[in-house]
Amino acid sequence: MVFYFTATGNSLYAARQIGGELVSIAQELRRSDRHYQADAIGIVCPLFEFDLPGVVEKFIMESTFDTDYFFIVTTYGMHHGGIAERVSARLESAGRRVDYFNTVIMVDNALQVFDMAEQMRIDPEKRVDEHLAAIRADIESRKRYIQPATEEEVDFYEGYMAAPAFDLHPRLDNPLYRLTDACIGCGTCSRVCPMQCIRIEDGRPTWDYSACAGCYACVHSCPKAAIRFAKYTEPNPEVHYRNPHVTLADLMRANG
Ligand SMILES: Cc1cc2nc3c(=O)[nH]c(=O)nc-3n(C[C@H](O)[C@H](O)[C@H](O)COP(=O)(O)O)c2cc1C
Ligand code: SF4
Ligand code: SF4
Repeated sequence: MVFYFTATGNSLYAARQIGGELVSIAQELRRSDRHYQADAIGIVCPLFEFDLPGVVEKFIMESTFDTDYFFIVTTYGMHHGGIAERVSARLESAGRRVDYFNTVIMVDNALQVFDMAEQMRIDPEKRVDEHLAAIRADIESRKRYIQPATEEEVDFYEGYMAAPAFDLHPRLDNPLYRLTDACIGCGTCSRVCPMQCIRIEDGRPTWDYSACAGCYACVHSCPKAAIRFAKYTEPNPEVHYRNPHVTLADLMRANG
């Protein structure tokens, strides 16, 4: 049983490659009584700022998992910051056993920092399928492994957390977005939002930021590039990303 959370499809693709029964965390979070039983249970999700997305951690902490093998795989784009050791220790200290925690590098969809055209260009260098095949083999053999945090990744994480820019991260802004006149009121943003915080009113989307996960699914999926950050200029605002193996319909099914 593999629970996934995804904004642009990388983690859905990773979950598919790992195999098993796929279950959307976004949809499960809308249920109140969450108890799951399976031989092996996993979480596949992006990392946000070197950590689990808050909603994924909430899902883990507020569900019960009856299993002999609990694994976590986070997809990321540039630096994982030693997430596996740090977050396993945190979950273990909160009473959650983690048997396996690994990361897989994919396209970095943090479009407030990176040019998506450049990210897609360098994607083949990341050898995603090779890494996913190795992770799948690990999980099938029920390997016990927590990816070690290298000195370089710990330094990167600590440097980032100490930098003043961290306080200014756009994900925490309210309002996070502004809408341009290019919007055609198609409703795509609302249908890919995992947290159901976008409503279409009079042909225009409106955001309720109280539940927003800051995942950027709405921005990436807008066919008119009409959603912009309120306070930041993206390096390449016209080019957005979706994993090439995942359709828009897949994302809507996953998050709707
Ligand atoms: C808000 C936000 C924060 C992110 N933080 C990091 C990060 O700290 N390090 C990193 O390498 N990638 C980071 N990323 C990139 C994603 O983790 C990566 O692209 C992931 O594969 C996206 O998965 P998805 O397509 O399933 O949403 C971030 C992306 C977003 C949207
Ligand atoms: S996806 Fe884009 S064009 Fe469609 S309603 Fe949302 S903002 Fe407007
Ligand atoms: S409003 Fe946009 S950024 Fe916020 S949770 Fe929904 S899709 Fe993600």
